[in-house]
Amino acid sequence: MLPRIIVCETREAFDRAAADWVSARISGEKTVLGLATGSSPVGLYRELVGRTQAGELSFRHVRTFNLDEYVGLSSEHPQCYRRFMNEHLFNHVDIEPTSVHIPDGSTDDPQREAAHYDELLGAFGPIDAQVLGVGTNGHIGFNEPGTPFTARTHVVQLAEETRQSNSRFFDSLDEVPTQAITMGIANILESREILLLAYGAAKAKALQRAFSETPTPHVPASALQLHANVTLLLDREAAAGMKGAL
Ligand code: F6R
Repeated sequence: MLPRIIVCETREAFDRAAADWVSARISGEKTVLGLATGSSPVGLYRELVGRTQAGELSFRHVRTFNLDEYVGLSSEHPQCYRRFMNEHLFNHVDIEPTSVHIPDGSTDDPQREAAHYDELLGAFGPIDAQVLGVGTNGHIGFNEPGTPFTARTHVVQLAEETRQSNSRFFDSLDEVPTQAITMGIANILESREILLLAYGAAKAKALQRAFSETPTPHVPASALQLHANVTLLLDREAAAGMKGAL
């Protein structure tokens, strides 16, 4: 199935278009929203905070599930995804703290935490609207190349390419965790709608592999071809990877 594609000319337009997509989906009653971390959604969260503080939007009826969390970082570590989400979104909007769900990466039993998170998703899901980024190696969430499309929430060993890429946020590569807890591809595909954000030339190749070849676990994002309601939000440089589809 071909995704819908929106190409933006500026970063501001990209962030606003992402916020329009989310705003339209959380304006009704009781939305379950799937969220990502990383650099792609930072401007989206800034927009959502601005709209909420201006009284145009409310998170009162929103329940969120984040895609993933590093294993082994305390919740106060600057790169912990819970802290990222608090700083970029949750501390600034009217969401009920009990409606926020992020795997607990500081647990001493990550397998059990993954199973617990999957049960929560089963109880409150399916996710109505899922925001995704994509790794340069085609990962979605922390589902690295080779992950079966049937995988549910699980503990992953992070690929070297992912650790290298994320080391820009840490003092050194050694400090980047080696494991994470992530929603699986099966959980992601159960979402009713998906918005994939890809900004910059570094994402073009991953998009090309994800959408121009037969779906394969070697390119996790290619699983999105199996979903009927995916929108790709791109800038011109990332869109170069989707040339055939534009
Ligand atoms: C983060 C996540 C990852 C990122 C991906 C792209 O929660 O699930 O899959 O979306 O690594 O990261 P950025 O946006 O930093 O390029």
